[in-house]
Amino acid sequence: MKINSRVDKVLNYIPKSSKVADIGCDHGYVLIKGVLEAIIIKGVGVEVAKGPYQKAKVNIQEYNMENYIDIRLGNGLEPLEINDCDVCVIGGMGGRLITNILSDNLEKARSFKRLIFQPMNSEWILRKYLVENNWKIIDEDILIDDRLYLYIIAEKGNMVVYDDFFFEIGPVLVNKKDMGRNKYIKEKIFKLEKILKNIKSIELKEKNKIENIKDSIEKWRNYLEY
Ligand SMILES: C[S@@+](CC[C@H](N)C(=O)[O-])C[C@H]1O[C@@H](n2cnc3c(N)ncnc32)[C@H](O)[C@@H]1O
Repeated sequence: MKINSRVDKVLNYIPKSSKVADIGCDHGYVLIKGVLEAIIIKGVGVEVAKGPYQKAKVNIQEYNMENYIDIRLGNGLEPLEINDCDVCVIGGMGGRLITNILSDNLEKARSFKRLIFQPMNSEWILRKYLVENNWKIIDEDILIDDRLYLYIIAEKGNMVVYDDFFFEIGPVLVNKKDMGRNKYIKEKIFKLEKILKNIKSIELKEKNKIENIKDSIEKWRNYLEY
C-alpha cells in the first residue's frame, strides 16, 4: 500500500474508534490504514468515478476488510444514510465542490460530529460556508510535502469571523506560529504577484483590478512573520 503523509495527517484528526465516511475515497487508503491502526472501527468510502471505485474495492478485498469497510459508488453524501458515520473526510477536491457536496445534503452533513477537509483550492469559499452554516473551525494545519496541503477541521458550533480576509487566511491558521503557515502566506503572495504581472491592459476596469490585487498582497504581507 502506498501510504503517504497525507493519509497519516488525516488519521491524526480522527478520534479513536470512529465510524468514518471518506467522500472521494479514491484508493481507499485512509480507511484501510485507519482500520489497520484501530482508529477506524467502520468505514464507508464513496466514489463517483467507476475506476477509483473498482480500485478501492480491490484494495479492501486484498486486506480482507470487507466486514469493516464498505465502498459505495455515488455522488457526495448521497449513498450515505443519516448517522451511518460520525466523522466525514473530504479531501483532494476544490473548496467549491466540497461546499456543494455539503449543501446538497445538508441534513446528512450536519449529522457528523467532525468533518475533515483537505481543499486543493478556493478554501475561502468552504470556510465562509462552514461559518455561515453553524460549523466551527476547530483546527487548521498545513502539511509541507510535494506541495502545500491545507487541512480544515470543523465541528458543529458557532464562530465569529469579523473580517472576510480571515476566510482567506484561515481564522485558526492565522494564529499558528509555524513554517507551514508562513509558506502558505508566501504562496498566496506569489500567486497574486504572478496575476499582477500578467495584467497588461491599461483599461480602467483592469486598473481597479490591479489596485484590488495590490491591496490584497499588502494584507497577506501584514501576516508574514519571517
Ligand atoms: C484527487 S482525488 C483525491 C483522493 C483522496 N480523497 C485524496 O485526498 O488523496 C478526488 C477523488 O474524488 C472523487 N470525487 C470527485 N467528486 C466526487 C463526488 N461528488 N462524490 C464522490 N467522489 C467524488 C474523484 O473521482 C477522485 O477519485
